[in-house]
Amino acid sequence: MRKYIIAGNWKMNLTLEEGYGLASEIKWMVADEVNNKAEVVLIPPYLHLSGIQNLLKDSNIKTGAQNCHHKNKGAYTGEISPAMLANMGVTYVIIGHSERRQYNGETNEQLAEKINAALENGLTPIYCFGETLWERESNLELTITESQVREGLFHLTEEQIKKVVLAYEPVWAIGTGKTATSNQAQEIHAFIRSVLTEKYTKAAAESISILYGGSMKPENAKELLSCADIDGGLIGGAALESRSFVEIIKSI
Ligand code: PGA
Repeated sequence: MRKYIIAGNWKMNLTLEEGYGLASEIKWMVADEVNNKAEVVLIPPYLHLSGIQNLLKDSNIKTGAQNCHHKNKGAYTGEISPAMLANMGVTYVIIGHSERRQYNGETNEQLAEKINAALENGLTPIYCFGETLWERESNLELTITESQVREGLFHLTEEQIKKVVLAYEPVWAIGTGKTATSNQAQEIHAFIRSVLTEKYTKAAAESISILYGGSMKPENAKELLSCADIDGGLIGGAALESRSFVEIIKSI
């Protein structure tokens, strides 16, 4: 019923040439049968998007952006608007990645505005949330993840929230090689789904894909992706190499 999504977040990596090379390899390696089980999404830097869109035109692979502004246009030097992304045919946009929360000081309140702007433009937001190491060691993971989800998303109507994808990304597992165990991840995913059920309806909560992100790789993907409430992955490091990314897709 829920859609499985395997999304590769390239972050600030790869030149244009390298990016086109990687996208072509993935397109070639991802057979249609695999593609039917999961939606495959490439999320390169903005600069690569147009060329990669072209490259993927005759495939089922979708594209996404790593961020967007909350306004459609204006005097915001250096920013990219959701209207521009939608106009290019981009499908997804990551909102609230922990690196943007940490290095760009993005708050739940600002992220709520970005969510609205993305939805107004017909983009599917991938809303990231997750606790830091200190928060987990202080047993605050449920409190923190719940407040990030509430403050970023709970102004939405049921119709709107059904258009959002969530991604649980424990900050202590991102790029560190430390992965949440499948029990730790499943616990948070099930908890967030229960929070969604309480606010909206069970039907809505059951229809929303919740991805896991944080050092997902071919060795641990199968176990994580077999958990009842884990509906795919948001993958950083392992998405920069075609073989490991495609192996993760195939482990569904
Ligand atoms: P990682 O990154 O797979 O390199 O840990 C995941 C993410 O930040 O989306």
